[in-house]
Amino acid sequence: MPRFFWAAVFSCLLATEVWAPKAARLGCHLHSFNVTIRSDRQGACRATRAVQACVGYCESSAFPSKYSVLLASSFKHNITSVSQCCTISQMQTVKLRLRCSLGLQKTVDIFTAKTCQCDVCRLSRY
Ligand SMILES: *[C@@H]1O[C@H](CO)[C@@H](O)[C@H](O)[C@H]1NC(C)=O
Ligand SMILES: *[C@@H]1O[C@H](CO)[C@@H](O)[C@H](O)[C@H]1NC(C)=O
Repeated sequence: MPRFFWAAVFSCLLATEVWAPKAARLGCHLHSFNVTIRSDRQGACRATRAVQACVGYCESSAFPSKYSVLLASSFKHNITSVSQCCTISQMQTVKLRLRCSLGLQKTVDIFTAKTCQCDVCRLSRY
């Protein structure tokens, strides 16, 4: 809620044309980047392709803990935080054609983000 509040305030203060490019960067959005895939350590087969990631900002907040929480934790758990992370909600596989030495070719499947959303933070997905 605070972020939307400030976005609304600034939208009123600044000309829409000036603010529009920055407003587009708020939130969690698809972001293209190039990956280079090598088939093995020698890199006999390789290719570069643009794929999508999810990059941006999601809301987080911290509230003074409820009194019941303070009591239950002997006044140690004094802050209650809520946070979300920009993450991939849907992925898709795309075929990448690798070019090898001797004019050979090889196709591999790689992942790319399809949609993004603010969701539970996961430190890793391995
Ligand atoms: C990916 O590589 C292409 C070709 O080199 C380049 O034109 C493009 O700007 C690159 N895209 C990104 C997101 O870095
Ligand atoms: C919250 O509690 C911890 C542990 O009791 C304490 O060290 C810290 O100073 C407290 N935080 C605030 C903002 O008072």
